[in-house]
Amino acid sequence: MKKVLVIHGPNLNRLGTREPEIYGHQTLADIDSALVERGKAFGIEVESFQSNHEGAIVDKIQSAANYHGLIINPAAYTHTSIAIRDAILAIDFPVIEVHLSNIYKREPFRHHSMISDAVTGKIVGLGHHGYLLALEAVHGLIGR
Ligand code: DQA
Repeated sequence: MKKVLVIHGPNLNRLGTREPEIYGHQTLADIDSALVERGKAFGIEVESFQSNHEGAIVDKIQSAANYHGLIINPAAYTHTSIAIRDAILAIDFPVIEVHLSNIYKREPFRHHSMISDAVTGKIVGLGHHGYLLALEAVHGLIGR
């Protein structure tokens, strides 16, 4: 069975109550369980990981060698983290960057992503649906 890792960065553990007008009303648990369910339909085992710590996210990416795909929303670290970028560059399976909000319609400091030119593809602004679309994309890329 193919395995896909989903990494959620800082403050995404507060989804549902955190600025719902921007990030929606779904909790992280809602998103993760929807991914597990959709994964079953694709024959993909989905594991999710959330951390508020940059180094913990780097450690998780480094330990992902036995996965077939990575979906990552590095949250605020998107805009700052060379360490997460470097960890992604060392990966040789598909990586999809996801943002719940359309970062290009927001403050200028959110317009730049440190990882966009290091990932396979990117989905922004579609809320929690973006994660499911990312899983569908990974499924198409890794096949059966
Ligand atoms: C985010 C956008 C980031 O700018 C922000 O820091 C987040 C969430 C998103 O999913 O829209 O925490 O990655």
